[in-house]
Amino acid sequence: MPDPALVVLIGAAGSGKSTFAATWNPSQVLELDAFRAMVSDEAGDQQATADAVAAMRTVLEARLTRKKTTVIDSTNCERAVRAGLVQAARRHGVPTVAVLMGTPVSLCVIRQTARTPGRAVPADTVRAQHTAATAAFPGLRGEGFDHVVFADQLHRLEPLLQRASD
Ligand code: GTP
Ligand code: MG
Repeated sequence: MPDPALVVLIGAAGSGKSTFAATWNPSQVLELDAFRAMVSDEAGDQQATADAVAAMRTVLEARLTRKKTTVIDSTNCERAVRAGLVQAARRHGVPTVAVLMGTPVSLCVIRQTARTPGRAVPADTVRAQHTAATAAFPGLRGEGFDHVVFADQLHRLEPLLQRASD
């Protein structure tokens, strides 16, 4: 991956974005859930999304200005959301990397059951996110991403992640 880069993770809830993002330095990761929690005390408060996005974009601008590698940890399943991120990176001359999480939808849905009620995303929503993410894949280069990665070998990271959490 280029450095600096704007890394945009794309995947449904439960696809493992935050787990993968944990392989970067924590200060490099902008997690939308964390910004929701910062503005509302609840990571799952969807009413707080607009304020959380605004706060996250402010931090992203500050980091791009400094040419700092940044990982965007949110579903990024909507084209308009990705377009805003690509534009921001372009303005600062920072290359963009799209990472599509290759986790099967069945696993994304099952993983919701292990979550606390406030954090569990309804199965229909997870399926819609997964469909949108998968449909976006062939068009990601056309959207302006400089690099496109299909992350389907994440289980190989497990020994590494295990060491990090020990
Ligand atoms: P949202 O924040 O809801 O969008 O989900 P997310 O994409 O950030 O998923 P997250 O990283 O929270 O992963 C969901 C669950 O799957 C967690 O309990 C992780 O521990 C687990 N998980 C994620 N990636 C892997 C993996 O590669 N292997 C295994 N065994 N578990 C994983
Ligand atoms: Mg997450």
